[in-house]
Parts: sequence; structure tokens; C-alpha cells
Amino acid sequence: MKIRNIALGLALTAAVGASASADARMDAFVDSLLSQMTLDEKIGQLHLPVGADIVTGDIMNSDIGGDIAAGRVGGVFNMKGCDKIREYQRIAVEESRLGIPLIFGMDVIHGYETVMPIPFALSCSWDMDAIERSARIAAREASAAGICWTFSPMVDISREPRWGRMAEGSGEDPYLGARIAEAMVRGYQGDSMKANDEIMACVKHFALYGAPEGGRDYNTVDMSRQRMFNEYFEPYRAAAAAGAGSFMTSFNTVDGVPATGNRWLFTDVLRDMWDFDGFVVTDYGAIPEMMSHGMGGPEDVTALALNAGIDMDMAGMLYLNVLRPLVEQGRVFGQQIDNAVRRILEAKYRLGLFENPYKYIDPAREASEIYTAENRAAARAMAPETFVLLKNEGSLLPLAKNGRIALVGPLADAGSHMQGMWSVAADPSKYRSLRQAFADALEGRAPLSYAKGSNLYADPELEAAVSIANGIRDPRSEAELLEEALAVADGADVIVAALGEGIEGSGESASRADLTLPDTQMRLLQALVATGKPVVLLNFSGRPTVMVYEQENVPAIMNVWFGGSEAADAIADVVFGDAAPSGKLTATMPRNVGQIPLYYNHLNTGRPRSDGPAKFEKYRSNYIDSPVTPLYPFGYGLTYTTFAYGDPVLSAPEMNADGSVTVTVPVTNTGSREGTEIVQLYIRDLAASVARPVKELKRFARVTIAPGQTENVTFTLGADDLKFYNSDLDFVLEPGDFDIMTGPSSADVRTVRLTVR
Ligand code: BGC
Repeated sequence: MKIRNIALGLALTAAVGASASADARMDAFVDSLLSQMTLDEKIGQLHLPVGADIVTGDIMNSDIGGDIAAGRVGGVFNMKGCDKIREYQRIAVEESRLGIPLIFGMDVIHGYETVMPIPFALSCSWDMDAIERSARIAAREASAAGICWTFSPMVDISREPRWGRMAEGSGEDPYLGARIAEAMVRGYQGDSMKANDEIMACVKHFALYGAPEGGRDYNTVDMSRQRMFNEYFEPYRAAAAAGAGSFMTSFNTVDGVPATGNRWLFTDVLRDMWDFDGFVVTDYGAIPEMMSHGMGGPEDVTALALNAGIDMDMAGMLYLNVLRPLVEQGRVFGQQIDNAVRRILEAKYRLGLFENPYKYIDPAREASEIYTAENRAAARAMAPETFVLLKNEGSLLPLAKNGRIALVGPLADAGSHMQGMWSVAADPSKYRSLRQAFADALEGRAPLSYAKGSNLYADPELEAAVSIANGIRDPRSEAELLEEALAVADGADVIVAALGEGIEGSGESASRADLTLPDTQMRLLQALVATGKPVVLLNFSGRPTVMVYEQENVPAIMNVWFGGSEAADAIADVVFGDAAPSGKLTATMPRNVGQIPLYYNHLNTGRPRSDGPAKFEKYRSNYIDSPVTPLYPFGYGLTYTTFAYGDPVLSAPEMNADGSVTVTVPVTNTGSREGTEIVQLYIRDLAASVARPVKELKRFARVTIAPGQTENVTFTLGADDLKFYNSDLDFVLEPGDFDIMTGPSSADVRTVRLTVR
């Protein structure tokens, strides 16, 4: 291994003394290395090209090997396999002048080959331990294949189900989103990335990417700073505080300036206000995209990004090609480049790559630690926690393993769609279909019949858009498919319909203007319901969808989202009662697209409509042609037992502004089977210097309760839980009255009053 200069640097850090702090040793090492680097080598560290094989955008790369040897590359991303990664790393450490190792990134969004439920689904579990475990497993598998940096967690709050990337986030709530962000960072980074299965997180997309106008991906975002801080920033802040090693920019504008060139965002807020000391990478090609935003030519946008505090250019090529002339023209300073390089070298140092550039490259681990039985079992166990049972008339679910069961729908025999969007390292050929899982579950007990029933969309072009990589189109006509399905239904006692979005129907660049079940699938569902047989709808989606017909006509509805590589078996577990669904919605489900944005933690208006029957009220804030209420509210979800809530009780009716109070709520399992309930606590600040939301989630607990038993669930609230950002953006607690609400969902709470002195 030729890394003589590095060895020199490491020796120098040793000279700084074993007693010096880790930071001082790192500083000495990075100082020494920086002092040996030419300007071109420094610029090279800021360049992140995509590796061979997997490309997410339209910028192709050439001759990466030569560039690495010339010291023109800082890292590479989305390359799968130890062999390839080892070769890239070998070139960097043995053939480049200074032997600086590369960092290897990947979109390990919800697992590597063992794919966990999509992030939005995971958020519906409200289970921080499971979410941390999911990230831990993802880190273990990815690191076994040479990856040391994941472009996750995606923590963008979104109230925009038209936006396909809701699938990648944790829904609409900043408090829950922040807890999930911390859990993910802990899961990926473990004990500060010391071990070879602990990788660096990259928090994205900073900032506000989840609020695009019209729900159209990459579109303009414009909101007040007050709203940013109170309603959107918290998960980013929490992830930074949890020690996330890196952040990614977002594609949208913030306050009129694209995030990738926004100095206020990255320097004033992220670094100065939140003390973030990691490095910042752009999103894919986001620096050149600033030209389309109208920020000038290549040199202008490059200077803008560097001046904003953006360290690494993902696939944009502009830092690589334009920074040197900009230095020569005096438009950017060497010191700014040094700062960016320093932060990237520090990341590599923290990952341990200078001590051992091959730390994460171990073919033995790659052969034995990926897609293991243990990881798959964990993914299968997690999935039922993410399923949200929306309706279960007459306790139709779970189904007994007897009688004649018909499984129908375009997603019933589609193993390659189960893992969901953004699973670049997945191997869909390994994943089982619902049909296989149901057949195994029913083996020797009950006959299973199957028909596809319909395609995903009637129009082949639309179908191609939602099933790009894993086409499952059936060449038969809609009438032929339907006829076959009705024949199968005719011979059955119960019908299970597996319908919804295709694998690419959500995720990046998958905005939808209509959120109902696609045409041909809706016609199939209506025909199945018309048979009069009981129908269980398994709804596959990466976001809230519009399900008014379903709610009115289908007896049992379960949103299974995209449950990962083990989804099929997990769904069979739940449908046949070997496991129970226990997820609750982390985003509001609207009745129609016209209601969007619709979210529980909204402000009141001066003219709120009454809580009475949903008819139109003149001169009130409502619609002539639609209720204002959601179809299913935030926090809602059923399971196979039922719970009853008592009133919340405070430890004291008053609290000092620096004190705390406990809230206890009795929850009783009133059904006949053990069950898990997600108990929620909301607050409302009744009078403040700025308008505050009608409800804000501040605590939650997942509790498993035996039938007939009562659990007293206790939460402690402190001053910080009652604070908000005022119009000066100070985080303040204003004394006065607060409503404290507990219950099974945001729309079903009991209230107690707390006075803060
Ligand atoms: C996405 C990012 C992703 C990047 C790298 C972009 O298109 O917005 O979320 O990490 O590609 O693949």
C-alpha cells in the first residue's frame, strides 16, 4: 500500500501526542495533508462522480479511473460490489500522488439487499427501536459491500401527497420526523463510525424539498422563515444534533435562492446556528441546475455554491472544471476551497479511511453478511408494524386459513415490485410475490386461486412510467383480464385484492395529479365488490392516496405501502393473523386532491367552520363541494383488537416556566387479543404572540397490552416542549394556558388544561 504521505501525516498526529484530543490529532493530520496538496488536488477532493452501473440522472461520466489516478476525484457513488470498489480504492491510494482514499456513497435508503419497508411506511410504525435497527441492518449490509456513506436519512417534512417523494420521508409531523431522523443517524453511524459496519449518514434534502408548489417534483418552494423553523426544520436540526456526518442540498429554491447556492441556509443556519461540523454535498447535478433557476452561467453558479458553504459537487462537474479559473480571477478564495477540502478530509478521517482505506472492503463479509436469514427475519417482523389497517368491518381480517381464497390484482404476483422505490442495491429476482407467500401460508389448509385482473394502468405509457425497471404488463385486453378475475372470484368465499401504485409510482420524479386508484384497477375493484363477496383491499402505495370509494364500499382496507424485500410473507402473516398490523398514519389522507395541503397541525382561521355535520357553511372556512375533514386523520390506524382511553391526568394543573409536568392516560385493551397501540399526546398553546397550531404532537408511546388489561401511559413534558419560534425566530416559552390532549389519533383526543406561570 503506497500511502507514504498519509503515513507521514499519521505519524505527525502521533507526535501531537496521545494525550491530545481526538480533534487536535485530526486537525494536525488534516493540516499536514492540506499543506502538501496542489490546488488541483484540492479541487479533486470536491468532485463526486457517479460510479459505473447505476446512474440516477443524465450526467454520464468518462474515464473515472484516470481521473482518480490524477487526484481529480474525492469519492464515487452508487457502485455495487466490493471488487469494483476495491479497484477504485486501489487506484486512489496506490496511483494518485498523495494516495488520499476515496469515500464511497450510495442511496441505501431503506436497506441494501435486505430491503426494509419504504421510509414512509417505517414512519407509520412509530417504533424508534425498529427504525434504528433498520438503519443498523442497512449499514451492516452496505458496509459489507464497500459502502461507507449513505444518502439517507431523507427527513423532508411533507404535506404534499401529490409529491412522489413522500415515500422517502416520515410524513407531515416535525416532532415525529425529528425522532426518526435521530434514530436513523444512530442506526447508520453507530458508535461514531468507529467499527467497519458503521457508515456515515447524509441528511437530505436541506431544505424544504417536501413543499413543492403543486406537488410537482423539483418545483419552487416559498414559505415564511417562521414556518420553516416551526414546521419544517426540526428534523434537520435534530439530525445535525445527533452527529450526522454530512448533509445534502435540495433542488428547490428557499427564499428565492436555490438551496445549493443559499448561504443563509448552509452557513448561517446549518453551521452557525446548529453547529454542524460535517460536510455538505450537493444533490445530483444541483450546481449546474442553478443555471436553469436563473442564477447565471457556469462560473456564477459555481461561485454561488462555494460561497454558500457547499463542499462537494455531486455529478455536476463544475467544481472540477470551473473552480481553478475562478480562483485565478479572484472570484473565490483559496481559503474557501481549503475549508471545503478540510471538511471532506475530516469525514474520511472520522471514517477511519486514512488508517485503513480498505476498512469497508471485505469480500468475506460481502459473501456472508448480506441478505442473511437474520436480516430478512428482522425485515419481515418490522413490516406488520408499518401496515395501517384503515377499515375492518365485521372483523373480516384476519382471514382464517380455510375456505376458498381468491387473490386478485396486478400486484398479487409481482415479487419485483414488493421492495419499493429507491432500492438501488436490491435484487428483485430474489423477492417473493404475494401469490407465493399466500400459497405457502395456506399449504395443506385451503385452496388459493389467482388472477391478475388488470394491469396497473389501462394506458401502456402510464404503466411504463410506474413500472420502469420491473415491467409486469399483461398483453391481454382489459376485458379478458377482468373476465378471468370474475371467474376466479366466483369460485371463492373471500377475495383479496392487491392493488395500487407500481414500484415507480412513487419516489423521485413520480408526482401525481390524481391520487385515486388508477382507472383499470378501480374498475376491477368495483367489479369485485359487485360480486357481493367480502373483499379485502391491500393498497400498495408510497404516499397517502384518495380512497373515498374504497372507504364507502370495501369492508376491509389495509395500506401495506411497499414493505421491502420480505413484504409478501409479512403481508401473509398479517392477513392470516400470525401477526397483527399496528401502524398509524403519519400523514393525513385527504378525500380529494382539492383539499391538499391537508394536515392536522394547521393554524386556526378567524372563521373556522363548526364541528357539526359536514354541510357547507357560508362565510366560514370550508368548501362548497367537499368536507374540510380528512378521510383518515394523522395518527389513525386500527389493529386486531380495540382500545379504550380514559381522561389524561396531570401531575399538577400548573407548571413553572422552567419546570415539568407528567401526563398520565389509562389505555385499556377492550378486545380479545393482545395488541399494540400507539398512544399520542398533543398540545395547543391557547394564546401566544404568533398564531399556533390547533394541535402539535409532543409525545407518543407504543404499548403492547394484554386483553382486558389497562396500562397507565405516562409522559413528561418540559419547557422545551411548549416553546416555539416567535417572529424574531427566538425559541421561546410564553406563559399561559395550554391544552394537553391524549388519544388514539389526532382526531380523537381528550383534553386537560395546563397553566404555565
Ligand atoms: C436524489 C437524491 C439522491 C441522488 C443520488 C438525486 O436525484 O434527489 O436523493 O441521493 O440523486 O442518487
